[in-house]
Amino acid sequence: MAKQPRNGKVTVVGAGFYGSTTALRLAEYDVFETVVLTDIVEGKPEGLALDMNQSRPIEGFETEVVGIGGGSYEGTEGSDVVVVTAGLPRKPGMSRMDLIETNAGIVRQVAENIARTSPDAVVIVVSNPLDEMTALAQLASGFPKQRVMGQAGMLDTARFTDNVAEELGVPVSSVRTLTLGSHGDTMVPVPSRCTVDGKPLSEVMAPDRVEHLVQRTRNGGAEVVALLKTGSAYYAPSAAAARMARAVMEDSGTVMPVCAWVDGEYGISGVYLGVEAEIGREGVRRVVESDLAESEVAGLREAAEAVRAKQADVADL
Ligand SMILES: NC(=O)c1ccc[n+]([C@@H]2O[C@H](COP(=O)([O-])OP(=O)(O)OC[C@H]3O[C@@H](n4cnc5c(N)ncnc54)[C@H](O)[C@@H]3O)[C@@H](O)[C@H]2O)c1
Repeated sequence: MAKQPRNGKVTVVGAGFYGSTTALRLAEYDVFETVVLTDIVEGKPEGLALDMNQSRPIEGFETEVVGIGGGSYEGTEGSDVVVVTAGLPRKPGMSRMDLIETNAGIVRQVAENIARTSPDAVVIVVSNPLDEMTALAQLASGFPKQRVMGQAGMLDTARFTDNVAEELGVPVSSVRTLTLGSHGDTMVPVPSRCTVDGKPLSEVMAPDRVEHLVQRTRNGGAEVVALLKTGSAYYAPSAAAARMARAVMEDSGTVMPVCAWVDGEYGISGVYLGVEAEIGREGVRRVVESDLAESEVAGLREAAEAVRAKQADVADL
């Protein structure tokens, strides 16, 4: 089959670890015309872009990476997708919620600039605390709710899958898992939807080991932060955000766990929460509700209530 022509422009705001790895992954897909990488720091995005472009002859992709420093949005205009990675990461011992005030100021300003320069973009937020920053980006941009979503569920699900595969010594490709809820203490790994070679997880693993892996998944970000000592994870997180951006641009209709506006599904309304959703050119086409165990639905409702009040608070930050 002939290769599709490259098209579209995706901007990644924040050229730190998360942003730069996302930009490189997006460029290496070779499906976008342009990947723009921006930062308030002058020179860093320009230098990273030059370096990435010089990898093109070796890796064999043509997408051009453009770096824009100094906090400018000139050159980002008319982006189809914008990935927001601007903001501080955690340090060991910090919770994601400890970042809320600083990152709210950053995300608000970024979202206002996106609304001004790329009014038709789909926005994918990754800055933490994720559920609250996604809600804030929607408020500050004024974009329709389906055009603003957050990345967390893809990453948390990937961590759950990797944990199961490692525990059982099987290929990651034989394992299916799912993680919903908040990107924090009320994360809801969903063992009832997990399979290994098509068999329910409960048939191949003792309940106490499943519970151990559920806890490890909830603690997945902190486990990496504690080892790194400075900064947080970015290889798996960037893989997740880049896949979401690609699904939007290709209008793929792929169902993925994302932080989306929930309006009645699972009996929950009026909150951004980790759920499965069908992703396309307009952002979230629809939230996909599936059969969960009663305790898992209860966990999801608990997560919704935990993030609801905080999401209301961000309006004043
Ligand atoms: N959602 C997730 O699953 C997930 C996973 C990992 C990290 N994160 C979050 O992603 C964010 C970025 O992490 P990181 O490791 O890249 O951090 P980092 O410190 O390496 O990079 C952050 C970058 O943002 C830039 N920045 C700050 N204010 C800006 C602004 N107003 N405009 C443009 N750029 C600005 C900084 O100069 C810096 O280069 C953090 O908030 C982190 O907690 C989320």
